[in-house]
Amino acid sequence: MNTRQSINASSPSAGKVILVTGASSGIGKQTALALAAQGHTVIMHGRNPKKTQESRDWVEQRTGNRNVYAHVADLSLMSEVVRFAKEITATYERLDVLVNNAGGQFGSEREVTAEGHEKTFAINTLAPFLLTNLLLPMLERSESARIVTVASESYRQGGQPILDDVELERHYSMMRAYGLSKLYVWWLMRQFDARLKAAGVRNVTVNTVEPGSAATSLQRESLRKTPWMLPLIVLWLPFVRTARHGARTSVVLASSPDVEGVSGEFWGNMRRKRIHPKWISKEGEHRIWQYCAEMCRPYLEGVDLVLPMC
Ligand SMILES: NC(=O)c1ccc[n+]([C@@H]2O[C@H](COP(=O)([O-])OP(=O)(O)OC[C@H]3O[C@@H](n4cnc5c(N)ncnc54)[C@H](OP(=O)(O)O)[C@@H]3O)[C@@H](O)[C@H]2O)c1
Repeated sequence: MNTRQSINASSPSAGKVILVTGASSGIGKQTALALAAQGHTVIMHGRNPKKTQESRDWVEQRTGNRNVYAHVADLSLMSEVVRFAKEITATYERLDVLVNNAGGQFGSEREVTAEGHEKTFAINTLAPFLLTNLLLPMLERSESARIVTVASESYRQGGQPILDDVELERHYSMMRAYGLSKLYVWWLMRQFDARLKAAGVRNVTVNTVEPGSAATSLQRESLRKTPWMLPLIVLWLPFVRTARHGARTSVVLASSPDVEGVSGEFWGNMRRKRIHPKWISKEGEHRIWQYCAEMCRPYLEGVDLVLPMC
């Protein structure tokens, strides 16, 4: 297909097994709803057991699809990512699509997880890197697998990458942390695509999505901690769409036959996006990959991370 055209959400082939992280609210919940309505088996991940179960029940009630499942993990902790990946691998025979959707935005004070990582980076960058690596063997066994990662247009608002201070110990600000976490996860997905191609893997595609501005609870925590942001958000409200609208591109990338085989692209508003070359850096991609690999080393025991450099 010509991907310069708007992509088509119609006639997806049902029957995929799809994991959506961060499906307990917002864009992820709407993504799960739309995919369940198409008849796929949907594994909904959340961090709060009650909220995740209620979201799963809501999807089943709205779609009549009983093949919807709930799993819980705090993705700010890499030990939890490992436990979660093991649970998915042990519970399901097959995984065809991984939607890395879970994400967070925090306040103007830098916060660190119990494992010592800056919180925004841990959830938005490190967790998708680790989860994708851990689930890759399962995805590779699928006839046709897809990895879809939700980034953000904010990748342009974090300023220049600071590769000698990736977790912003000396340069933290809320916008820098969020913007760079999304730039870095996009770079990592470009590396997954390039490395899989270099390894001769033809049945797994990797795409990144930006959902546009959607009314969700994403800014709940940053608003609580930095209430001065409220007037800015109010000014921005006329440009904000629904979570359902925000989910559209993820849904199509996860399920539409129109994008079968398309890989390594950045998508927004149902179209492939042109990225200014200043945001693309092979050296930056390698350094972020190496950094994440180093940080995840303790959690990657027995996992082959030898996707070739390229
Ligand atoms: N909304 C926008 O305008 C916008 C724009 C660009 C990109 N995005 C991206 O879109 C994705 C979805 O965000 P959203 O807007 O739908 O926000 P949201 O309503 O806050 O949903 C975020 C999801 O991630 C989960 N999550 C957050 N921290 C987690 C953690 N530590 N461990 C496990 N799960 C965690 C949340 O769980 P709970 O339900 O427990 O909170 C929720 O399910 C994010 O990656 C975000 O960065 C959003």
